[in-house]
Amino acid sequence: MRVIKTANYEEMSTHVANLIAAEILLNPRAKLGLATGSTPIGAYQTLIEYNQKHLINFSQVSTYNLDEYRGLEPTNDQSYRYFMNHQLFDHINIDKANTHVPDGSNPDAQAACKAYDELLEQAGYVDLQLLGIGRNGHIGFNEPAESFSKGTLCVDLTPSTIEANSRLFASKDEVPKQAYTMGTQAIMYAKTVVICASGADKADAVASMIAGPITPECPASILQLHPNTIVVADKEALANC
Ligand code: F6R
Repeated sequence: MRVIKTANYEEMSTHVANLIAAEILLNPRAKLGLATGSTPIGAYQTLIEYNQKHLINFSQVSTYNLDEYRGLEPTNDQSYRYFMNHQLFDHINIDKANTHVPDGSNPDAQAACKAYDELLEQAGYVDLQLLGIGRNGHIGFNEPAESFSKGTLCVDLTPSTIEANSRLFASKDEVPKQAYTMGTQAIMYAKTVVICASGADKADAVASMIAGPITPECPASILQLHPNTIVVADKEALANC
């Protein structure tokens, strides 16, 4: 793992955006794995600026998001599809037909997961996977478990994740209890993984990911086995390393 330590969230966001921009400059048809959550928002804003200044071109880029709440329509303003449209896709010259998010509106979990796995397999998996990290070490919605996940799966969100995500909903009761998430295998197939973290509340998870045992109890720890993982984190998030 390569670790890039930044002074603060803004610097972390610039580094992450630059790594993604470099990927697109080197490969205009880049396949990007993308994440939602608070952490990547600054990087997405920087990518929008670069695109508007014509420094990078998304016209041939395709994207594959990590996860989606089960039971939310893409038009629901709490869905991850809605988040991605608003935080990034609506502001760049990407062809929306080339942007993919698991289909949370499909109640048939098996079919929704199979369809996403087939899509990823047909694409040959992603060139660069952007990840955030949960306070419990989750990546995507791969929560601490007894074994690492493989393909796309439907997960029950843990109480701590529901609690963390409730800040974005009117109340905790409104947070969906299940989600479809890309499995660990597809994440590990990415040629490059960029995982970003900011703030003291991520310090324990980041330390376990970088230097703890490789265990499904900290799903991000599997990235120690990935040949090209770059951790971009601010000094608060790296405080325990
Ligand atoms: C989001 C995702 C999650 C988040 C993680 C951190 O698509 O897959 O794993 O990356 O929960 O979320 P934030 O950035 O909000 O702290």
